[in-house]
Amino acid sequence: MVKTDSFRGRDFITLLEYTKEEVETLLEVGLDLKRKFATGEPHKLLDAKTLFMIFYNQSLRTRNSFEAGMTQLGGHAHYLDPDKIYAPALEGDEKAYSTERVSDVARVLARMGHGIAIRCYGDPVGWIYGRANEIIRNFAHWSSIPVINMEDDKYHPCQALADLMTVKEKFGTFKGVKFVMSWAYSPSVHKPLAVPQSAVIAATKMGMETVLAHPKGMELDDEVIKQCKIYAEENESSFDIVNDMDEAFEGADVVYPKAWTCRGNIPPWSAKPDLQKSQILFDKNKHWICDDAKMKIAGPKAKYMHCLPCDRGFEVTNSVIDGPQSIAFDQAENRLHAQKAVMALTMR
Ligand code: CP
Repeated sequence: MVKTDSFRGRDFITLLEYTKEEVETLLEVGLDLKRKFATGEPHKLLDAKTLFMIFYNQSLRTRNSFEAGMTQLGGHAHYLDPDKIYAPALEGDEKAYSTERVSDVARVLARMGHGIAIRCYGDPVGWIYGRANEIIRNFAHWSSIPVINMEDDKYHPCQALADLMTVKEKFGTFKGVKFVMSWAYSPSVHKPLAVPQSAVIAATKMGMETVLAHPKGMELDDEVIKQCKIYAEENESSFDIVNDMDEAFEGADVVYPKAWTCRGNIPPWSAKPDLQKSQILFDKNKHWICDDAKMKIAGPKAKYMHCLPCDRGFEVTNSVIDGPQSIAFDQAENRLHAQKAVMALTMR
C-alpha cells in the first residue's frame, strides 16, 4: 500500500494520473470500507464535509452511490442541476444571467465544501469530443478542493475502479485474467466512449490479458490505445484489438459488452456531429449481442459485466444478465465502495 497521505487534495479525473500501486491502494481501502459497511463498523472519515455534485446528464448509480457514500462517511453530498444554478460554462460559451464561468463556480464552491464532482458528456457539449473533459479540467484548475470525474466524454474512472474491484473479488488477481471489452448493439447512439476507454486503461494498467472487440468504425481514441499498449508492455501482458465478437469471447474470463458511439461522426474526427450517420452503422451490427450462444463460446467460468444501464434485448439477453454468470449487480454495488475510497483519501 502506498502512503495514503499522497492522495490528499488530488483530483480524480482519469486512472491515467494514478500509478498501479495507487490504484491497488484505492482498491484495498475500498474493500476495507466495504467490510466496515457490512459489519456496521463506524467509518465517518469525512465528518461534516460536503461534496458538490454537478450533473449535466442523467444518472442512477453514480448519483446514488456518491450520495449514500458521503452519508456513510459522515458527510453530505449536495446535488446541483445545471439548469437550476447558473450552468457552469467555459469562456466563450457564456450566456448572460443563464450561465456562470467555470472559474467562478469552482472558486465559490471551493470556499464552501471539500470536493466537487462533475458528470458531463454528449448533448450538453454538442458532442464535441474532449469538451466535457476540458470543463472538468478547468474546474480542477480553479478549484482548491479535489475535483472528481463522474463521467465525461473521455473517461469514467469511478466506473473503472468499481470494475477492477469486482474482478479482484471474483478472481483474486489481475494476472492472467482475460478481460474482453466488447462493443454491443444498442438502439441509442448517444453513449460516450468513457466506459470502454476507462475499462481498457484499467485492465491494461493492472496487467490483465486485455482484448478490445468492436465492428470496424467503432474505434476508440488513438491516444488511449497507445497508452494501453504501453501498459501491456510494462506488465508483460497483452492488449489485442479484434473485429469479431466470437473471436474475442473465446476463453474469456470476463466479457464486458456494451455500446459506445461512433467516433468517426463526432468532432474532431468529423466537421460536425452526425449521429444519424452513426445510427446506420449501428443498425448494421445488431448481431453484436451478448446471448447464451456467446457465453457458451466464452465458457462456463466466464463472468458477464456491464456498467449499467443496459439495453436488454439489444446489448444483452435477459438470460445472460439475470443468469449465473452475471456479476453486473456486484459491479453496480462496488461503485459505492470504490468511490468511498476515492472520497475518503482525496477529501480528508
Ligand atoms: N454506470 C453508470 O455510471 O450509471 P449511471 O449512469 O446510472 O450513473
